[in-house]
Amino acid sequence: MKPLTLAPIAPERLSDVLRRMPKAELHIHIEGSLEPEMIFALARRNGVELPYASVEALRAAYAFTNLQSFLDIYYAGASVLLKEQDFYDMAWAYLEKAAADHVVHAELFFDPQTHTSRGVDMDTVILGLSRACRDAGQTLGVSASLILCFLRHLSEDDAFATLEQALPLREHFIGVGLDSSEVGHPPEKFARIFKRCGELGLHRVAHAGEEGPPAYIHTALDLLQVERIDHGVQATRDRTLMQRLASQGIALTVCPLSNIKLCVYPDLRSHSLGQLLEAGIAATVNSDDPAYFGGYVNQNFLQTFQALDLQASHAYRLARNSLQASFAAEAAKAAWIERLDDFFESVRA
Ligand code: HPA
Ligand code: ZN
Repeated sequence: MKPLTLAPIAPERLSDVLRRMPKAELHIHIEGSLEPEMIFALARRNGVELPYASVEALRAAYAFTNLQSFLDIYYAGASVLLKEQDFYDMAWAYLEKAAADHVVHAELFFDPQTHTSRGVDMDTVILGLSRACRDAGQTLGVSASLILCFLRHLSEDDAFATLEQALPLREHFIGVGLDSSEVGHPPEKFARIFKRCGELGLHRVAHAGEEGPPAYIHTALDLLQVERIDHGVQATRDRTLMQRLASQGIALTVCPLSNIKLCVYPDLRSHSLGQLLEAGIAATVNSDDPAYFGGYVNQNFLQTFQALDLQASHAYRLARNSLQASFAAEAAKAAWIERLDDFFESVRA
């Protein structure tokens, strides 16, 4: 990784580098990209009544104290999604923003159970999202794929039923994840379904160590056989785990603004991103639920770099980690990394 020797550059120039460098986004819940304006527009289009009088009133409710306080509002916001075109429009709006942030590849989480439990068909959800991903590749130059997430506050039987419903649409998603309320719903609750998904050739990731203990990261790796850990910031509490993540090259999809909004850290200056990189862990920067947490991926980079005084060498490493840890084809990854190297060569010149 030759550009690690990059000399420090002035803050203004660094911001420009962060904005323009090619990157992958690996931790974005597509339902968390639903902006209040779009929630209201879809509510009108579909005749759904919202418990908020205005966009401003809804936005004012975005004052979270922990993960659960956010999830309650996030699931309520998703209730306006009914038709295939709604899912398309939501994903398209995100993908346009991703393109503007120089995201070359995005892996979008979606929560089918949030929709099927309201009577929306699995086809409606997956075909709408998938069409937006396909169009983004063709017209925005953003490669995009889907990862189906199981809601961990529901049962493993419910997850199995969801997988059955989704399997006829197998070609439209590349993997599975595990999200929603973490504490009290440890990885072992989903060991059988993740084993089945592995047999089906699906990629596997899981949220672990967002609010939950470092032990959940160990068990996500051991029992769910995940290839990446979503969040994982609690790993800093376990030195053995830090060494394990570094030596096994397990990528963490870190979401700094999310961690502040959900009170995992009191402020960005206390965030562990620098510490994770220092330990040799393949950390990446992502937006999680950008419509709720105050910024898309470039805002996550800009604000975190300013708070932690990170430099161009960190930028290179984070972007490279994101491309390398993606589930895209090896040839595509190599081509993006070459683009990244060329970009940083031009920064150095
Ligand atoms: N954590 C867990 N579940 C989620 C999140 C998150 O940050 N965002 C959407 N679902
Ligand atoms: Zn998440």
